[in-house]
Order: sequence, then structure tokens, then C-alpha cells
Amino acid sequence: MRQTIVAGNWKMNASKETVNTLVMGILEGLPDVKSKVIVCTPYPYFSQVEALATHSQLNLGAQNININASGAFTGEVSADMIKDFGAEYVIVGHSERRSLYGETDEIVAEKVQVALDNKLTPLFCIGELLEERESGNTEAVVTRQINAVIEKVGIEAFKNIIIAYEPVWAIGTGVTATPQQAQDTHAFIRSLLAENDADIAQSTPILYGGSMNPANAEELIACADIDGGLIGGASLKSEDFLSICKAG
Ligand code: 13P
Repeated sequence: MRQTIVAGNWKMNASKETVNTLVMGILEGLPDVKSKVIVCTPYPYFSQVEALATHSQLNLGAQNININASGAFTGEVSADMIKDFGAEYVIVGHSERRSLYGETDEIVAEKVQVALDNKLTPLFCIGELLEERESGNTEAVVTRQINAVIEKVGIEAFKNIIIAYEPVWAIGTGVTATPQQAQDTHAFIRSLLAENDADIAQSTPILYGGSMNPANAEELIACADIDGGLIGGASLKSEDFLSICKAG
């Protein structure tokens, strides 16, 4: 039985004041939540979230990682820096990093490898563009994205990877994949893993992301192959986020 995981991706949204309100609100409701809960915050707020969340069930994650350990990489953040604040998770391959910052399948695979080498759990994101879905290429796209990582790190490494399927057309648009659309792709992703290892396919968490909100979370998470959510906009309000956390 896979545990439900709900992760908030705050993206580039935060201030000291909103972080305080948001994290305090989440912590208040957390004792009633069975799911594993992660917040992936902007780096400048790591210390604040670490302090607020000490001794709680709230887990901290990053939104990106640099592949180098240290050195002359202006503006970048290493795995050791992330871990210095008690963070155990890192989003890798988000569609915004792929489309806005040129992250290819190869770069994403390398980042997954570096996260794993440093005992960080990657939230490895995949998903197709609208035109790719409309031209019937969803399965080809997610196959390419997953295989790039399997080739790099091997299927065994998926024991320590969380996959997030985020159809790009559903991110920040208010258009959610229907439970059937999401479930079909999740089942396909699991079948891809099963071609390599049936047990790992069964144990790997596959989260859905893309306009998940309190109104649609329960129906999505109830699908057989949907193990939780990666939440953008709705993770910025504690009541909405908690309501999604409780849907699992
Ligand atoms: P929204 O929930 O705002 O659509 O964002 C999803 C996402 O990109 C999470 O990583």
C-alpha cells in the first residue's frame, strides 16, 4: 500500500509574513492529516520554515538543485546547502524549469542522480504540452522523459524517487485533467516502470499536479494509480492545502 503524499510547490511566491501565516496554519491542521506533507519553498525561507516546522510532521523540500557540490556557480544552490536546513526533498524537472531555463531530459536525469547521491528524494516531474496531447503523443513524451532517467540512474533508484505527472496544459490554468485522463496516464507510467521491475512499479509513488484544488483532489487521489498531488496555487493558502492533504 502506497502512502499518500501531498507536496506544495510555492514556486516564486513568499514573504516572511506570508510564510509565517501559511506554515503556522498548516501546522495547526497537520495532526489530522494522514498523508506525508512536504512544502517546497523558495530558498530564502528555508531557515524560517525549518525553525517553524521543528518537531512537526511537515517536511521541507527545494524547487531546484545544482549538479555541482560547491564553487564558482553564481546564483546556484547545492545539495549540501539544501540539506543544511533539514530539507529531504527536491523538485527536479518541473515543466517551468524545462521550458524557461532550458532543462533537457539529460540535465534533469543528471539532477536526479545528484539528488540521489546526496540522499535527497527527487520529486521528478514529467508531463506533456497541450499540442503533444492533442497530437496523441502523451505516452511517447512521458516514455522519453522517464527513460532518460532510468538510463541514467537505473530502475533500482526508483525506490527513492517520487514521480509527479504534471500535464503542462493543466499547470496554473484552472483546467485539471479529468480523473480518467490522469488515471490513464498514471497507469501507463506505472506500466513503463513495470517493464523494468514489477515490484518497483508497484511501490513508486506517482503524484498528479496541475490545478489540483480542494474541489477536485479527492476524486483524483481516489484513482488507483494516483498517490497524491504536487500543488501549486492551492498550496499558498493553508485551508486549501490542508483540505487537499486530508483528501488522501
Ligand atoms: P498549479 O497547482 O498552480 O496548477 O501548479 C501545479 C504545479 O506546477 C506544481 O508543481
